[in-house]
Amino acid sequence: MNRVGREELKEKIALLVSKYGNDRASILPVLEDISREYGEIDLYAMQTLAFLVDIHPSEVFGVATFYNFLKSGKKHGKYVIRLCRTISCHMKEKDRIAKQLNNELEIEFGEITSDGLFSLEYCNCLGMCDQGPAMLINDILISKVKPSDIPLIIQSCRRGVLGKEYKTPLVSKVVKKGPLL
Ligand code: FES
Repeated sequence: MNRVGREELKEKIALLVSKYGNDRASILPVLEDISREYGEIDLYAMQTLAFLVDIHPSEVFGVATFYNFLKSGKKHGKYVIRLCRTISCHMKEKDRIAKQLNNELEIEFGEITSDGLFSLEYCNCLGMCDQGPAMLINDILISKVKPSDIPLIIQSCRRGVLGKEYKTPLVSKVVKKGPLL
């Protein structure tokens, strides 16, 4: 968050807290707005928010990092692919999907492709347990993923048509707020 000064950030967060309320319930919407506006959430932003709503910074940090939908200071690719690793998806061969993603993109989880287009991450339950394995690509939730779907999905991202021209039953819904929010 280099392009924004601390004072400006502090004022922005204070404004958001007054908008969403001076309590715990405001943590997520404030973090979301900060993430959307500045592209990431750094430690200073988390500490400031914690101070303003009077909770321990570790709680804000926990929320910011648990919800992988929010950026926590980490660099991401243009397409952030988040594969659910929670129990239902794990039992539905999530590892085969992970392997296919590794092969297709030639990166491991936690890495970004050299062209900056894709990053791979694991996430927690996406609320689609009965339709796993599930994954989220930016704000598009894809359920019942098969390893053989991966090349087409990646191709659709490269062509910028995921969720548009590439619209199969796999793209079950566009998540606006994140399924757990
Ligand atoms: Fe993967 Fe719930 S366990 S979506």
